Amino acid sequence: MKVSQVDPRQLVSPSPAEAVAGPAATVPRHASSAREWSDTTLSPETRAALVVSAMTEDEKFAWLSGPMALPTGETKIPEGALGSAAYYPGIPRLGIPAQQQSDASLGISNTANVRPGDNATALPSSLLLGASFDPETARETGALVGREASAKGFNVQLAGGANLIREPRGGRNFEYVSEDPLLTGIIAGHAVAGIQSQGVVSTVKHFAVNPQETGRVLSNSVLSLNALHESDLLAFQIAIEIGAPGAVMPGYNLVNGEWASENVYLIQTVLKGEWHYPGWVMSDWGATHSTVKAALAGLDVQSGANLDPQRFLAQPLRDAVAAGQVLRARIDDMVARQLRSLFAVGAIDRPAPPDGHIDYMAHRLIAQRAAERGIVLLKNEHGILPAARGARRLLVIGRHADVGVLAGGGSSAVSPVGSLSLEGVEVMGVPMARVYHPSSPLHAIRAEAGAAKVDFIDGGDIAAAVRAAADADMVFLFAEEWRTEGEDRPGLDLPDDQDALIAAVARANPRTVVILQSGGAVAMPWLDVVPAVLAAFYAGSGGAEAIAGILFGRVNPSGHLPITFPRDIGQLPHPEQQDPRTTTSNPGMTIKGDVFDIDYNVEGSDVGYRWYVREGLTPLFPFGHGLSYTRFTYSDLQADYQGDTLMVTVMVRNTGARAGAAVPQLYVSRTGPHGFAPRLCGFERIDLQPDEFRKVEMRVDPRLLARFDAVGRAWVRDVGIVDLRCSESAAAEGISVSVEMPPFTQPA
Ligand code: BGC
Repeated sequence: MKVSQVDPRQLVSPSPAEAVAGPAATVPRHASSAREWSDTTLSPETRAALVVSAMTEDEKFAWLSGPMALPTGETKIPEGALGSAAYYPGIPRLGIPAQQQSDASLGISNTANVRPGDNATALPSSLLLGASFDPETARETGALVGREASAKGFNVQLAGGANLIREPRGGRNFEYVSEDPLLTGIIAGHAVAGIQSQGVVSTVKHFAVNPQETGRVLSNSVLSLNALHESDLLAFQIAIEIGAPGAVMPGYNLVNGEWASENVYLIQTVLKGEWHYPGWVMSDWGATHSTVKAALAGLDVQSGANLDPQRFLAQPLRDAVAAGQVLRARIDDMVARQLRSLFAVGAIDRPAPPDGHIDYMAHRLIAQRAAERGIVLLKNEHGILPAARGARRLLVIGRHADVGVLAGGGSSAVSPVGSLSLEGVEVMGVPMARVYHPSSPLHAIRAEAGAAKVDFIDGGDIAAAVRAAADADMVFLFAEEWRTEGEDRPGLDLPDDQDALIAAVARANPRTVVILQSGGAVAMPWLDVVPAVLAAFYAGSGGAEAIAGILFGRVNPSGHLPITFPRDIGQLPHPEQQDPRTTTSNPGMTIKGDVFDIDYNVEGSDVGYRWYVREGLTPLFPFGHGLSYTRFTYSDLQADYQGDTLMVTVMVRNTGARAGAAVPQLYVSRTGPHGFAPRLCGFERIDLQPDEFRKVEMRVDPRLLARFDAVGRAWVRDVGIVDLRCSESAAAEGISVSVEMPPFTQPA
């Protein structure tokens, strides 16, 4: 399926200067080592252009294609590289530092173990960050990543996962924020802004519609352009507007028949064209497929080139320039975009501090606080939680729950000193361990439980667990589901007989609390017999302390689900899965099978909760759901236009006996000819003392009230009445108000 015609006028990417600052910056004809660029009063575009004009051809090409800077097979770490995802050499004669790129979705990735003794703070998974509904937390944890990066000498971070979670079994869902474009865009954008506030560049990735790992290097995501813009692209657009990431990384997949890394529509028409994106586009590792096509489509850098069949953007690109197939100006544009982004965040003016000092204790606390804001209390029958401190005998069950909390696997994995690393999988020739972060649930529960005796059993032997549970006043059962890059989950069930373990333990002790450590949604066939369930996802460096704090009430839970938990796979838009044995999922591997389509038009832009509403399905737990130890009431919902912008206010009151954080969620829907299923169009997180009330004001992004017109290249709001609902989840009744919409259009 072909979706776009190449416009010959766009064959050279708009230069950063053109895209951002109008006409190209004037560059002295003989820019020299006098380093005119060091004048910080000049714009990043002008400074980049000055450097480019002083660079040799070899220096330019050294920044266009590079191998993974980790040892794999025959490939050694390049000289000067710190040992991470990528390295591009500096240009000392011009004062330009090397690019040291590290994975950083969840902290500075270091599982490949090339920097022995290396410490790093593991953040809660992005899903948990999404569950906080808190841009401030995203910014704060982003800044933590930026500080650690900078202290370690990295200046480009491969962070900012902004894919929508369309496939609940997706192996990398823990690296993504949510199934909703607004929540994803805001959280990912603030995380990026936090990273870049520390003088290092961040990406957003994997642009776009890259929801599954099985066959990720062969899957073709088919989606109408209207739906594409109203869902996955909207998430990226918002993230880019808020975070201004220095780079964008396309995914491994194809989108509407073109590889994402050479997709003219995505990169040229939308990203660099309509969105005026001034940064650079780096391929995913081993995801480049051509030379001329990729260069003209807007790809600026071939990353992980050792995993590709050719160094497409090295000698073949030089040949293409010599043959006149690619303009020399396009080569300058590729380099200038990188320099511009490095200048824009200060990565060139403020090189990494030499002492490498990182306050890991303080950072662990930041990670813990973030987890505390995200962990979701899914069920709490008869107020069984918070656990009473008077209990005599408590039991903790769970594999390695005496040692640590589970982490997701793959390039994003972070291994703080003291982690337990078990055998995991190999991704692109690099062994990726199954890591437990050094934050022991058993110890954390003991620390909170006062005088109670807290026993531990790993749960491998169901009969032994049942016997121990029968003797306890209360049981905390840590269930786990490991996900990793490169593999999807084969279903929604917990692996290794854990469903049977939970059911048996809960029958033996009706005061059983299940703490789920998962990389996404899981089914809960035992839910009726378990009175309390906590979704902790992967909780990071301070995860166990956060979980225990919630279990014993030191922390009032305030997380809300950033994804729908389905009842079973029969409810999914795509119940069938590809067979991992007949398709290739990782780059650099022998290709098995052909490119295959996944027709995302089935759900279109109705991703996650919208699909459930549209299809009249009742999930196990809806998007936005999350209980608290206090209660909130909502009243006085009002909507008004200020100019073209819809402003909504609502009164929120804490009517319970404890302080807590409310997360009012605003959903918009419409019936009739231009009808659409509910969309989250605003949210806020506010701390309230008992009896305290506050008026919350939300500005509704006009795009969420509109439809995308792919022909007219605009967001179009049709005249008519929409319903606004403020509630505590996508499925809760809440309070509503209707509002008339005047017509409105906004360019794409
Ligand atoms: C992943 C990227 C990552 C890159 C470098 C790829 O496999 O998809 O997210 O940044 O590797 O490690």
